[in-house]
Amino acid sequence: MPKTFFITTAIDYTNSRPHIGHAYEKVLADVIARYHRLKGDNVFFLTGVDQHGQKVQQSAAKAGVPPAEFVKEITQKFVDLWKKLDVNYDEWAETTSERHKKVVQGILQRLFDAGQIYKDKQAGHYSVRQEQFLTDKERGPDGEFGPEWGQIEFREEENYYFKLSQHKEWLLRYLENRKDAVVPDFRQTELRNAVEKLSGDLCISRPKSRLDWGIELPFDKNFVNYVWFDALTNYISFAGYDSAIHEYERQSPEFRDRWPALQIIGKDILVPAHGIYWLIMLHAIGFPDEAMPQLLVHGWWNLGGSKMSKSAGNVVDPFVLIDKYGAGALRYYLMSDIATGQDADFSEQRVIERYDADLANSLGNLLNRTLNMVGRYQDSRIAFPEGVWLRNPDERATESYADTIITHRKAYESHMSAESTFSIPFPLPFTLGPFVVNAAIGNILVIADQGNALVENTAPWKLAKGSDKASKIKLNSVLYALTDTLRIIAILISPILPRAAHGIFDQLNWKMDLSGKEKRFSLADAQWGKLPDGHVVGKPVPLFPRIDPGEGV
Ligand code: MSP
Repeated sequence: MPKTFFITTAIDYTNSRPHIGHAYEKVLADVIARYHRLKGDNVFFLTGVDQHGQKVQQSAAKAGVPPAEFVKEITQKFVDLWKKLDVNYDEWAETTSERHKKVVQGILQRLFDAGQIYKDKQAGHYSVRQEQFLTDKERGPDGEFGPEWGQIEFREEENYYFKLSQHKEWLLRYLENRKDAVVPDFRQTELRNAVEKLSGDLCISRPKSRLDWGIELPFDKNFVNYVWFDALTNYISFAGYDSAIHEYERQSPEFRDRWPALQIIGKDILVPAHGIYWLIMLHAIGFPDEAMPQLLVHGWWNLGGSKMSKSAGNVVDPFVLIDKYGAGALRYYLMSDIATGQDADFSEQRVIERYDADLANSLGNLLNRTLNMVGRYQDSRIAFPEGVWLRNPDERATESYADTIITHRKAYESHMSAESTFSIPFPLPFTLGPFVVNAAIGNILVIADQGNALVENTAPWKLAKGSDKASKIKLNSVLYALTDTLRIIAILISPILPRAAHGIFDQLNWKMDLSGKEKRFSLADAQWGKLPDGHVVGKPVPLFPRIDPGEGV
């Protein structure tokens, strides 16, 4: 049996409502998960929320409610958003759940028993406002700590530490041996450079006297865990990992079938959290090198060139955009207007432009005119084409119509994979990057453009006027080609726009028994000529009404 494809995202802090950065990451994971289901893989998609920690405790205090209540309310906002955006996960991680707490405590106890965790005293300058010890790195050019740190005092505090630096050599060796541990490549380089500089251990606790919203240390009830052991462990605790079983090989078949995962994270939490703490944690609890996860690091959506942040008051609310333009328009924008791994600038104007140009004008128009013509000229029926359809029904074309579509379908598949080397305009393959969904969308648009060009170049309305057999055969060939093109487009676009893909199949009157179900779409069906002889299509209904009615087609 082939292994399950396991995909995870970062879990979002529940200190404030979701913004489009959160939405981007979850939609990206959902698209990759759906693409794997389209290929026939068994998929396990895990996402969720990070509910503990200081930020949450502070936000709850500010709102004047107990943290548990505060977290519940914000968690619901995330759940609501994923429902609206059709983010279809298999398991939901909430770090306050008992199941998770048990695994975190089990892992901490094991590492403590193995001498990997020890208690130590730290003394130094402490920022009361930021609740952290400061090092010389935090000093400004004048040698002083800036006003952002607020009141500074000298403090001594006991805490628990994890022997991180003991595993430095292992991590360097692992990264040397596995070139795609982190994608894109430049992020692996960034991580390796950071590991080379690694020194010191990781403080993993806070005394309860100053933070109690966390998981209690199993070996000292005066402390809670802070904070990465708790958050990172979600990736295995919600996938069936049993912390009481020490050997990786003896974990349950269910867990072993899922793990390792493809883990999608933003660029801010690669170093040190995922690239250093997480990989070392897994290694320290006995995961072999072959069972290390792959990290897919995405860029940031900025606003006016700078980072979105709640404190700067420049976050974009996905709920507002969905209410204005629909969930499909937002999914489409987030997947088409950024290259995976790079940053992009958010623009509401671009949400409208991309939707109107690509979906309303190109794809929607092709669907509408095709079904109109099949209805008008052939009583909604397409016959299996004779002869001409194997060539390009557009006599001026040099390549067969089907070949163009198949070439772009292959490019689409390459772009949806971990390392795309497929690039049509260039004779030599070169690496584009991992999971370049925007490039895959580009291939779908080329296919739609092919369809529209076929309409322009063969002018079916003229063919419909001819009473000779040759015109009739050609007209049917063109209409068959267009209808089958739409069927293939629906399959390819289904991971990105699942609802619209159903809309296209519904209008094509195709696989109606599976309407609304994801298994209606299969990549194996994205082959030329699968519509049967005599198929009757439905009536056209505008699927992508223009947002900006200004400049019609
Ligand atoms: N809770 C931690 C992650 C723990 S994972 C075990 C966290 N939470 S977060 O809410 O701050 O961020 C969650 C994810 O959203 C991260 O991967 C982060 O990079 C991503 N994004 C947050 N803002 C973003 C943008 N403006 N653009 C794209 N993604 C960004 O970190």
